[in-house]
Amino acid sequence: MAKSDYSDFLNVGIELARVAGGIIREAFYSGSLPTIESKDDRDVDLVTATDKYVEALLREKFKAEFPSYKFIGEESSASSEGSSLTQEPTIIVDPIDGTTNFIHRFPFVCVSIGLVVDKIPVVGVIFNPILDELYTAHINRGAYMNGSRLPLFRKNEPLPSLSHCLISTEAGNDRTSTGFDPKSRTLSKLMTDINARGLRCAGAGAIDCCLLARGSTDVYYEIGVRAWDISAGVCIIRESGGMCFGEEVFSQRRSGENTVSFDEPFDLMGRKIVAIRFAPKENQELIRRQLADIIEDIIVPRD
Ligand code: IPD
Repeated sequence: MAKSDYSDFLNVGIELARVAGGIIREAFYSGSLPTIESKDDRDVDLVTATDKYVEALLREKFKAEFPSYKFIGEESSASSEGSSLTQEPTIIVDPIDGTTNFIHRFPFVCVSIGLVVDKIPVVGVIFNPILDELYTAHINRGAYMNGSRLPLFRKNEPLPSLSHCLISTEAGNDRTSTGFDPKSRTLSKLMTDINARGLRCAGAGAIDCCLLARGSTDVYYEIGVRAWDISAGVCIIRESGGMCFGEEVFSQRRSGENTVSFDEPFDLMGRKIVAIRFAPKENQELIRRQLADIIEDIIVPRD
């Protein structure tokens, strides 16, 4: 049976996020060009020697502290352990979320560490060592940034409609017309038909989650996202009072229904996220319905 206290993991996660952050920060400010490899044939999905080094280090340290926990890391997900998620406690790590940002020295770069038990994200630790922002969450105990409870901002501001929202999303790695054109049509509708307040791309799904949890954005959605981008972030969003939905937003629209249970478990391997910041439930529900009508679905293979 799942336990309810994961503070031992949270403490180790914070300690290791700071170690990883030190390595990332040093490499970020070093004058040398990162060693870059491409994971696809279009040079879009990139990995550096620092991503690989940090992931190997975190894997080794976590294995020493929590030997029975499974480990899924972005850079080793193709290895023997694979990336299948079971009920077992599983540590999900993105050693550098925002690798392209890291390469270009754009300061939205972080290490993301999540603990998932029974497929539920129970701990999230995200550290941006460039801006020195540490986000943490433990299930049922709230979310924090550098010790201050989230949301930091706009706690009492309702969200009357999508047109009042600052929206974040990502271009993602699929640049084929079937993968990208629906995304650009959605953006066009959001900016023209809806006249949303604005659009932001942080370049790192984990940071999009933190910006929403702190109250700096109102909506984050992405199709094609991976579990290591959002495992920690989903815990942080939920513990800040935000909502996260996945495939159910799209499948219920296809079936003509328009009711999604707020208590439905979030499918981390479904590669879709629709998140709405802390606000009165009826506002969150309205925004979810509006997003379900606007975001064009894309079929992506599950992880
Ligand atoms: C990427 C970022 C980006 C998302 C891409 C991811 P990485 O992660 O999270 O925002 O759109 O799909 O691959 O490669 O920088 O860890």
